[in-house]
Amino acid sequence: MNIVKTIAKLEESLIALKANQKKILVPTMGSLHAGHLALVDEARRIAGPDGTVLLSLFVNPTQFDQADDLKQYPRSLERDLTLCRNHGVDIVFTPDSDVIYQPDHSVTVSESSLSERLCGASRPGHFDGVCTIVMKLFNLTRADIAIFGKKDYQQLAIIRRMVRDLNIPIQIKGLDTIREESGLALSSRNERLSDQQRKDAARIRRAMLAAQTAYRKGARHSSELLDIVSNTIESSELNVKIDYLELVDQESLHPIKTLSAPAVIATAVFYGAVRLIDNIELS
Ligand code: PAJ
Repeated sequence: MNIVKTIAKLEESLIALKANQKKILVPTMGSLHAGHLALVDEARRIAGPDGTVLLSLFVNPTQFDQADDLKQYPRSLERDLTLCRNHGVDIVFTPDSDVIYQPDHSVTVSESSLSERLCGASRPGHFDGVCTIVMKLFNLTRADIAIFGKKDYQQLAIIRRMVRDLNIPIQIKGLDTIREESGLALSSRNERLSDQQRKDAARIRRAMLAAQTAYRKGARHSSELLDIVSNTIESSELNVKIDYLELVDQESLHPIKTLSAPAVIATAVFYGAVRLIDNIELS
């Protein structure tokens, strides 16, 4: 496995590849868990024995709207590198911030529709930071395929939109959310929950599944579906607060009143100070 920290070294390892070798990119901010590793395993599967799996590991400062959040972001480089080795990653790109951002950088990628709601509403500038770093990673690696998790549904939809609107020559693949046995979506934030909160937070998935069952039985109105979710979440005896809960179109992320096209229920829930997100597709 090649660990590269600079653009020159990344170039060197890319030039060493054969021209027809497929490159699959998995962008991450490190602190890897089984959710990230599922993306890596899928990348390895698609790449086959001859293809190249690239993992980027970079805590991107421009997507954090709060300095404290950036400072507190968990970092575990040595452990991450061992996991990458064990899961067959070929190249890990782990640059420092000054490698990625020129001190006077002045061009960014900005998305102006899908990023207005859901997580974008409470995190101004977040998705512009995501688009800009992801675009840079696409350009730097010249990957054929990039893999993202559906756990961050809005992020995935925005990246698909960026690729479409800017004609970026890359294929995007979205993978299902990996969960704890209880149903709670895996996230590095889960570690900040108490045992009691972590157990209770499984209700987010139960709430989503209850709405999906109602949908399958014929419920089509957003109020009906979202009430099921909010009732289940708010019946918790802990300090739980719904940040947002919406039924939106899978592609445009526009809110839906009566369901006809493929939709998704997306939510963010505060357990104390810890904000958890989850979603479920209805189609
Ligand atoms: P990060 O939060 O490290 O996530 C990296 C990738 O792992 C994302 O595509 C995310 O959707 C996926 N992922 C996280 N938890 C998952 C789970 N439980 N199941 C399946 N996939 C999961 O998302 C980012 O980093 C950054 O915004 C990034 C795209 C790297 C740009 O900086």
